Amino acid sequence: MDEKERLAVEKEIEQRAREIEEILRSYLPAEEGCQRTVIEAMRYSILSGGKRLRPMLMQETYKLCGGTGESVRPFMAAMEMIHTYSLVHDDLPAMDNDEYRRGRKTTHVVYGEGMAVLAGDGLLNYAFETALKVFDNCEVDGIPLTERYRAGIRALSVLAGKAGIYGMIGGQTADLEAEAGQPDSEQLLFIHEHKTAALIEASMMIGAILAGADEAVIKAVEECASHIGIAFQIQDDILDVSGDEAALGKPVGSDEKNCKQTYVTVCGLEKAAEEVRIRSRKALDILKGLPGDSAFLQRLTEYLIYRDR
Ligand code: IPE
Ligand code: IPE
Ligand code: MG
Ligand code: MG
Ligand code: MG
Repeated sequence: MDEKERLAVEKEIEQRAREIEEILRSYLPAEEGCQRTVIEAMRYSILSGGKRLRPMLMQETYKLCGGTGESVRPFMAAMEMIHTYSLVHDDLPAMDNDEYRRGRKTTHVVYGEGMAVLAGDGLLNYAFETALKVFDNCEVDGIPLTERYRAGIRALSVLAGKAGIYGMIGGQTADLEAEAGQPDSEQLLFIHEHKTAALIEASMMIGAILAGADEAVIKAVEECASHIGIAFQIQDDILDVSGDEAALGKPVGSDEKNCKQTYVTVCGLEKAAEEVRIRSRKALDILKGLPGDSAFLQRLTEYLIYRDR
């Protein structure tokens, strides 16, 4: 991808991110009532220049699999809420202890640690309250179950599972414990697969499920997302060493500060970058083999190899 192509994709991504932000805003709670402060902290953390990669992947996979309706919208918002909660908690002093995120002070620096814990909890719970809106106007008592009802339940189950102890939380657990030791490449892969790839897998799988894709396609999508997610975390590790703080909107050197073993410390910068390219190529091969138009997803996957934020 040359510089001109890169800039064109970047523009395309920014436009889509703006559209996603509108969807997100439409589902967020208003800052009012006795819960005002926690809602303010939730909105502060989520309405701040994130790349919106996960809802973008979800929406594009939905379209790729033939989805044309609205059912993906509450899930797009829910996924960004869960991702943001994971960041708010990840930045806490008890975890990575970072003071900048998405170009501004982290939630606990602005609102205090207690409120940041609650804002994260609030986002996680509200994610499920939001995703459940997929059943609004669905005839719950209308037996037999409709296809939309079935797909909605399955999507909820993927969302819960991939965010939980067998997904993202499991990865964050291993990540935290690895600070005290010397994880080998197998343990490192476990960490990356779970703390980061799991939510990316959920994003793309939910897009496919809600569009009514068949089992083989859902499985291929999960594998493709796993490669994208692992490559994404390795690139994050690379940027933590060689990135630019202003572009990233978060501190560089956070991993070293926390004695984290990453692909960069274990394999070196060059091999880590090579692994990003290998994984991305595998993802691209799967995308090309799927039925439907995956042109944008391919451009996005290629762009992520060279991202600087
Ligand atoms: C950061 O995710 C945490 C990782 C899993 C590497 P992103 O790089 O997608 O963060 P935002 O949403 O753009 O801020
Ligand atoms: C975090 O990984 C992944 C999450 C589940 C939040 P990092 O700790 O490397 O993410 P950043 O670099 O703080 O965004
Ligand atoms: Mg971390
Ligand atoms: Mg961190
Ligand atoms: Mg990082």
